[in-house]
Amino acid sequence: MAKWWENASIYQIYPRSFQDSDGDGIGDLYGIETRLDHLVELGVDGFWLSPIHPSPLADFGYDISDYTAIDPVYGTLEDFDRLVAAADARGLRVLMDLVPCHTSIEHPWFREHPDRYVWADGRDGGPPNNWRSTFGGAAWARDPNGGPRWYLHSFYPEQPDLDWRNPEVVEAFGEIVRFWLDRGVAGFRVDAIDRLVKDAELRDDPPASAPFALPLPKEYAELEHLYSRNNSDIHAALASLRAAAGDALLVGEVYLPAAEVAPYLDSLDATFAFELFHAPWEAAALEAAIEAELALPGAHAWALSNHDFPRLPDRYGEHAVGDAARLVCSLPGIVFIYQGDEIGMRDGPGHDPPYDRAGRDAHRHPMQWDGSPNGGFTTAEPWLPLIDPTERNVADQRGDPDSLLSHYRQLLAWRRLSRE
Ligand code: NOJ
Repeated sequence: MAKWWENASIYQIYPRSFQDSDGDGIGDLYGIETRLDHLVELGVDGFWLSPIHPSPLADFGYDISDYTAIDPVYGTLEDFDRLVAAADARGLRVLMDLVPCHTSIEHPWFREHPDRYVWADGRDGGPPNNWRSTFGGAAWARDPNGGPRWYLHSFYPEQPDLDWRNPEVVEAFGEIVRFWLDRGVAGFRVDAIDRLVKDAELRDDPPASAPFALPLPKEYAELEHLYSRNNSDIHAALASLRAAAGDALLVGEVYLPAAEVAPYLDSLDATFAFELFHAPWEAAALEAAIEAELALPGAHAWALSNHDFPRLPDRYGEHAVGDAARLVCSLPGIVFIYQGDEIGMRDGPGHDPPYDRAGRDAHRHPMQWDGSPNGGFTTAEPWLPLIDPTERNVADQRGDPDSLLSHYRQLLAWRRLSRE
């Protein structure tokens, strides 16, 4: 039987920047609820919420301190239930972001269950091996309690890596998955999956002998991540997530070229096609990336943009955003559209001083609903400024049959028709 998500179109909501409803300058769940009709008009089948759990914001929500709660800045569990019901009433499915590789260092587990994390003894007075963190520097930090061992962090030091070889971690995530499924979510986008389990012997990564197939931060790219990611034990861990999720949709963020992704599809329904995401805007490169992805078994998850990378006009040029929409919407599989892409939003100036130490503020500016100074996003000072609401906003483009928004609506309507 056909699954609901086959050839579905899914909208990525970055909750801090979608719609503020309580006048604190930060988006929230009730704000999302008030804007659901935009998603219906656009013609998507559902939305993925970037993390909405309590977080000290070292990595803006991807450092979670409680997986079964809602950060008060976004609302309450009751607000969440109401949002799911409101989405359901409109035929929209809700996907959560599941972040299983690491928690926040402020998660109570780090104090109460340190054995749920990856620890090792130092070597020659330094870290246990040469692994690097994606965001720069060593992937190891000293025990903040003064103990002799080091803990692993594939991303920021405030994000200690969980040890998925510990059955307590497996069990705890099974419960987290079931908690949200019981509240009516239809699936999960699963974060940083190729880092879930690492080499048991913690062997050094060798120097990179050739450039990696996808863009990486410069310092991180100097090593070939042979032992610090993509370990074969990841698949047992993923099988346990699949067992907990039943037939809910699981879309993995596997930051690897397509040729290395197939084993992940034993448990995941689809993985993001990062080769296409990062392909230069040039026909032969786009074709090669699409062919590589189509060679994979299972479904495909296509996206050209998200909260981590420059927006489409900044990467491809303003002239190409219509073609980018046509390209991604014509591909077989699940299509993800990042909020604001449907009106051609560009990168903004970010914030001074930066919120995100890895420089991604520019891709996370608030949604532009109308031409007012705060773009209809908030009545207060927005956490990041609006970019150019007078130049591009939903209200203006809705009434213009030649706008990018109207074009997306036609494309998504066509995708729905072609499924029937
Ligand atoms: C991928 C997320 O999209 C990104 O925002 C985050 O920093 C890393 N994973 C670590 O969780």
